[in-house]
Amino acid sequence: MCGIVGAIAQTDVTPLLIEGLRRLEYRGYDSTGIALSDGHGGLALRRAVGKVTRLQDKLASAPCAGVLGVAHSRWATHGGVTEANAHPHVSGGRIALIHNGIIENYVELKAELSAQGYVFASETDTEVVAHLIHAEVTKGLDLTAAVQQAVRRLKGAYAIVVFDAQQPDRICVARIASPLVIGLGENANYVASDVQALLPVTRRFHFLEEGDVADVRREGVTIYDAQGRRVQRKLHESSLSADAVERGEFAHYMLKEIYEQPRAIADTLSERIVGDHVLQAAFGPMAAEILPAVQSVHIVACGTSYHAGLVARYYLEQGTRIPCTVEVASEYRYRDPVVLPGTLFLAISQSGETADTLAALREAKRLGYLATGAICNVPESSLVREADLVLMTRAGPEVGVASTKAFTTQLAALGLLGLAIAQAQLQDRRRIALFARQMLQVPEMVEHTLKLDGQIREWAKHFADKHHALFLGRGPSYPIALEGALKLKEISYIHAEAYPAGELKHGPLALVDDDMPVIAVAPNNALLEKLKSNLQEVRARGGKLFVFADPNTGLEEADGVEVITMPEHIEALQAPLVYTIPLQLLAYHVAVLKGTDVDQPRNLAKSVTVE
Ligand code: AGP
Repeated sequence: MCGIVGAIAQTDVTPLLIEGLRRLEYRGYDSTGIALSDGHGGLALRRAVGKVTRLQDKLASAPCAGVLGVAHSRWATHGGVTEANAHPHVSGGRIALIHNGIIENYVELKAELSAQGYVFASETDTEVVAHLIHAEVTKGLDLTAAVQQAVRRLKGAYAIVVFDAQQPDRICVARIASPLVIGLGENANYVASDVQALLPVTRRFHFLEEGDVADVRREGVTIYDAQGRRVQRKLHESSLSADAVERGEFAHYMLKEIYEQPRAIADTLSERIVGDHVLQAAFGPMAAEILPAVQSVHIVACGTSYHAGLVARYYLEQGTRIPCTVEVASEYRYRDPVVLPGTLFLAISQSGETADTLAALREAKRLGYLATGAICNVPESSLVREADLVLMTRAGPEVGVASTKAFTTQLAALGLLGLAIAQAQLQDRRRIALFARQMLQVPEMVEHTLKLDGQIREWAKHFADKHHALFLGRGPSYPIALEGALKLKEISYIHAEAYPAGELKHGPLALVDDDMPVIAVAPNNALLEKLKSNLQEVRARGGKLFVFADPNTGLEEADGVEVITMPEHIEALQAPLVYTIPLQLLAYHVAVLKGTDVDQPRNLAKSVTVE
């Protein structure tokens, strides 16, 4: 999704802005741009379609510099992927503006501004904001006041960063429903959509709140709330490491992140399970009051995080006997749901900035839930700031657009939630202790499972020339099959579907032939015999089977049946985490064979901050 970086300093900010864009590349984008003030009323603008390197090429052939500048990576929403639509957008030769989000009333504003004589150079919704601010500064307002006036006219979601070449002492920013941070430096200050962009230059941040407008100067920052009152926002020291986003010896971030899972899961569990006991305080100060009162859980999320929610339903219903419903956020937010007493609303999100999930959380706050909770990977995110109960996953920054370690750490966190509720409600202590011990074994099991990499790379050769693939699982392995299919389609562009294996004969069996590889997840659980019958149905139609199986399933290689045996027996609670690993590796190796852009697949963004 779009990325924002801005800086005002004593020396040329161009390298810092380019580095910031590079550090935001993982979010996904299709064009970039930079605008720099020359300090004497003029500005330089460079934009390019494609990767940051294309913008660097332009800067090399037409150099420019400035101590004040803004830079942007765009993920197209309104208007095609063209240089004219790339940000910054300029108005009157003096206002340069970058924007994340969507201006919903831009059509009306465009008509109004056109009537005033403004000519539009792009098809974007963003350009109206540049002209609106220009209209205000030409009335004599200073930039901050002009921004405050202009944002009153906007409907929608936005993070805006703007400078006026004729007032080169400041950058102004404003936000609603789209993240924006201010980074504090020495004789320099910065802005960005994500702290990652600024970690090489600062660790001290203010997170702007809804409706805030800020005047960012070299000597200091002044923040105003939505009512125009001067306010102080808390200073956060980030503990993220600046090199956490380097990929080291790995060919892709995704592979690095797959291999980081033993550590990431262990970190997510550590200090939360002490002895056989889950520490309630890990969920925040309100946990002691909320967890004993939970009668049901309503989970809302998108994409991979939604799949984690589907697994959590098994943890909560089978493990804890708490009813649980799971829903995609984009549907929930418009459904006007009926809320039963004692229901905990739980949002799951790696980024904590997914627009639909955040909107769902805000809707839930209106609806009379017992409380709201968040499972999230980004401590500074909006979701974390707004939920009552929070459990952080400790995956570390995830750069690959295809989520891997964020997913398995979400599963670990959801396992902890099930145990914490069971404990708070005084359920069988021995059972809780057993599950806690099983959870703590997972990092080592994942480590062992990663050793299957070579065999899986061989299997990938069977998929690279295929156009379709079918994933099967039963019980909690069904969401794992869904996640395997999502991974394969996201990065290899092979059409993949997942079904609970019992559904095969109700339709999808018609698709099975010798050109349709079928991948099955076969832990040794109560549904194993049923799964085996379903696999027979596939084999009988000539479908080629690729099965990841427990050592004791009795499933063996045969004509048309390939089996990879997991390194050890895996218990029901552990299976979703451990069986995810081979499916991630399979998708990865198929994508590498196909030569796709593994870390930044086409049309996708890491953090979907627009609806
Ligand atoms: C995962 O591989 C996807 N890129 C995507 O489905 C993602 O999980 C989804 O957009 C939700 O993101 P979030 O967890 O940051 O809310």
